[in-house]
Amino acid sequence: MAAGESGASTIRWNESQRRFETEDGKAYIQYALVRESEEGEGNHNPKVVAMDLIHTYVPNSKRGQGVAAHLCNFAFNHAQAHSLSIIPSCSYVSDTFLPRNPSWNTLVYDKNLKSSM
Ligand code: COA
Repeated sequence: MAAGESGASTIRWNESQRRFETEDGKAYIQYALVRESEEGEGNHNPKVVAMDLIHTYVPNSKRGQGVAAHLCNFAFNHAQAHSLSIIPSCSYVSDTFLPRNPSWNTLVYDKNLKSSM
């Protein structure tokens, strides 16, 4: 019997593979870390500022049950908890998840905002 109920399976952070995934590892959201050097003060130590969500994948058999939305929510909550912005490169994130969850737009990476901080 599957662990999840109504498609809402448990999500885990697979840090070594830079993805958030379901327990069976078959559905995932893949990210890349974006680093930026802080300007001024002679500080050129690049700091992780954002997670670029590059690909979301859910197997055919699990599609249409909100698994991708669940993965996105986990990724956005993770980014927020780690003070990171999100770059929504994956079309599912930019074209479906964010329009349906507009409150998360506050986390979307804004280079101008960052550089003025
Ligand atoms: N881009 C944007 N939105 C997409 C999409 C895509 N490529 N594929 C499907 N969607 C939308 C559908 O229109 C659907 O809308 P509906 O609820 O009105 O039917 C919605 O996603 C379903 O949401 P949810 O149930 O949370 O998604 P899912 O668990 O079925 O997974 C994908 C969605 C895109 C991750 C899955 O279809 C998949 O793995 N596709 C192949 C890989 C892919 O194209 N990834 C996205 C680009 S990186």
